Amino acid sequence: MRKKIIAGNWKMNQTPMQAKQLCDMLCPQLEHAAADVVFCVPFTDLQTVLDAVQGTDIAVGAQNMHFADQGAYTGEISAPMLKEMGVSYVVLGHSERREYFAETDSAINQKVKQALAYGLTPIVCCGETLEQREANITIEWVRMQLKLDLAGLSEQQAKGVVIAYEPIWAIGTGKTATKEQAQEVCAAIRTVLGEMFGKETAEQIRIQYGGSVNAKNAAELFAMPDIDGGLVGGASLKEEFAQIVRS
Ligand code: PGA
Repeated sequence: MRKKIIAGNWKMNQTPMQAKQLCDMLCPQLEHAAADVVFCVPFTDLQTVLDAVQGTDIAVGAQNMHFADQGAYTGEISAPMLKEMGVSYVVLGHSERREYFAETDSAINQKVKQALAYGLTPIVCCGETLEQREANITIEWVRMQLKLDLAGLSEQQAKGVVIAYEPIWAIGTGKTATKEQAQEVCAAIRTVLGEMFGKETAEQIRIQYGGSVNAKNAAELFAMPDIDGGLVGGASLKEEFAQIVRS
């Protein structure tokens, strides 16, 4: 039985002071949650949020990192830096990073391996554009992304990964995939994971849905057999996030 995992992707929102206020509002409401809960926050909020969630079961994640241990990469943050702070998750390959920062599958693959090497749980994002969905290549596209992003992982390593299926046309648009659309792709993701790492491993890997998840649609999405929770953007900055977790 896979435990559900609900992660808030704060994106580039919340100054440290605002982050503290948001945590003070959400943390008491998230006590004794039945799901794993993660706040994926900007680098500058990490310490504030780590302090704010102390003594709760809430975990903290970053939204990106570099694949090298250290070095001349101005502006970047490494896995050992995150690890030493007490961060336990990192979102990798979000479509906004792929689109605006030209992140490639090969770089994402290196980052996934680096995160695992440092004991961070990568939340690896995949998903199609509207154009790809309309051209009926959604499943081929997502399969290709995962084959590249997770290339070279052992079965044991694959178990330590969370996948987030996020159709790009559903992100921040208020246009959620139907539960059937989301289930179809998440099931296809589990199939490709099975081909790569064996069926038994694939059954253990958690797959989130992301894209305009809100308090109204969360319960029906999370009830689908291959959807093990959500990666929540806009609604993670509001009290609504606690309602989503309760779903
Ligand atoms: P959204 O974002 O919930 O605002 O659509 C989801 C995401 O990009 O992770």
